[in-house]
Amino acid sequence: MLIALEGIDGAGKGTQARLLVEWLRERGYRVHLTGEPTSGEIGRLLRRMLVSGGLLSRTEALLFAADRSEHLREIERRLAAGEVVVTDRYVYSSLAYQSASGLELEWVRQINSFAPEAELVLYLDLPPQVALERLGGRRRDRYERVEFLERVRRAYLELAKGENFELIDASRGVEEVHAEVVRVVSRRLEGR
Ligand code: TYD
Repeated sequence: MLIALEGIDGAGKGTQARLLVEWLRERGYRVHLTGEPTSGEIGRLLRRMLVSGGLLSRTEALLFAADRSEHLREIERRLAAGEVVVTDRYVYSSLAYQSASGLELEWVRQINSFAPEAELVLYLDLPPQVALERLGGRRRDRYERVEFLERVRRAYLELAKGENFELIDASRGVEEVHAEVVRVVSRRLEGR
């Protein structure tokens, strides 16, 4: 089972991913926790380039897809070994962020068409304003960032109409959000 956590920066994906993994392990599942951008060569290059800027959105989209392509080798190996894989961001980040950057959604889909759908996508939803306050510090280009993240959020909300998506209100406390994550995941596990 492949479970993806998605949401804008500051939604709490990292925390919820860790809590979910602990919860699954306590119940005897073998779980692999991973994320994108990866810590591999392409992921590291991407992170550097995102900080320094200067890449065309199109180039970024291709690099995110390339990073994912390599990531999938590990994901597929783990799934084949019967592990549950929990990933902090996946192809849906590309669909939301890269389309919010002005690229055509269909093109972003095409360059990622090698990536299998996640069985379950936990989309942690909250207003960008709240997310940025949580992140603190990073105030640079704040207005622009809020506007950009509003577009990302709208793209996610559109994606969240998909069957494999669960929309989770992430403006609540960590424990409440975790409780809902667990409810949703339990339901899916029982339905298998
Ligand atoms: P992020 O999850 O913030 O990584 P970390 O916290 O580990 O540094 O991801 C970095 C940024 O990359 C984030 O703003 C979202 C963006 N991103 C995309 O635009 N497209 C993608 O496909 C992925 C995976 C991330």
